Amino acid sequence: MSDLFDFRRRLDNYAVMGNPVTHSKSPRIHSLFAEQTGESVHYEAIQVDPGGFAQAVGNFDASGGKGLNITVPFKQEAWQLVNERSDRAERAGAVNTIKFIDMTLYGDNTDGIGLVNDLLNNRIEIANKRVLLMGAGGAARGVLAPLLDQQPAQLVIANRTAEKARELAHAFCDLGNIEGNGYEALDNRQFDLIINATAASLQGELPSLPDNLLATGATCYDMMYGSEPTTFMQWATQHGAITVLDGLGMLVEQAAESFYLWRDVRPDTKPVIEQLRREMVS
Ligand code: ATR
Repeated sequence: MSDLFDFRRRLDNYAVMGNPVTHSKSPRIHSLFAEQTGESVHYEAIQVDPGGFAQAVGNFDASGGKGLNITVPFKQEAWQLVNERSDRAERAGAVNTIKFIDMTLYGDNTDGIGLVNDLLNNRIEIANKRVLLMGAGGAARGVLAPLLDQQPAQLVIANRTAEKARELAHAFCDLGNIEGNGYEALDNRQFDLIINATAASLQGELPSLPDNLLATGATCYDMMYGSEPTTFMQWATQHGAITVLDGLGMLVEQAAESFYLWRDVRPDTKPVIEQLRREMVS
């Protein structure tokens, strides 16, 4: 036991904070990254009570922790808490990665670049494509700037509450060709890439979508993942999508970007995604 304790003291400590966090795959992902790169990293999951976030971050910092991932429901609170933010975190209004640098809490958001990198690794082009983003909550907001950086021909946000989609589009309109609407405005329009950023999959639901929404050769991407295809992925397959992807790759890619921010070392994500996929079905 004391050997283990000594060993851990020589490692740099990182954690994910959230609620609930017990089922988080982040500790597994980062331990695979550490193993692969030989970096001296110890990573754990810390469940934080509502109202206890700032205190928990302060305690982790005081104990010599080097960095944190932040997940639901604390990403917006983390954005408020940090002293400095990357441009992409500033835009996202949410922080999923904190790096402790001397007296400074530096906040980044790696979710959007995680999505973009997963799409590009799967040879899905975004540039000059018609992209539909379903949902206008925190998950959608977090990926908008990196998506627009890729210069799609157009980016349409569709949301059950149309006004939220319009507001979000307005907030990002300086970054590219973007509009926000309700789902009814999708009639007779086609898209090359459709990304589901709604929480509907969690409830096994799906917004009502026109049957001819997919352009020839379209890709559908659900930011959720599970051992079975989500409701949206099933809809995509039934409606002729050529490529249908879930969010497991995005999860690993956003983790890799955090690891890079903390360690200046970029892990190879492909074997880690494959390993997690094997573990999910077994
Ligand atoms: P998150 O941080 O996961 O984005 P959120 O900010 O609560 O969570 O946003 C949830 C998103 O999923 C919203 O876009 C929500 O639509 P509304 O803004 O109209 O509430 C969307 N959503 C949730 N359940 C849905 C459902 N059953 N059908 C369609 N959209 C749904």
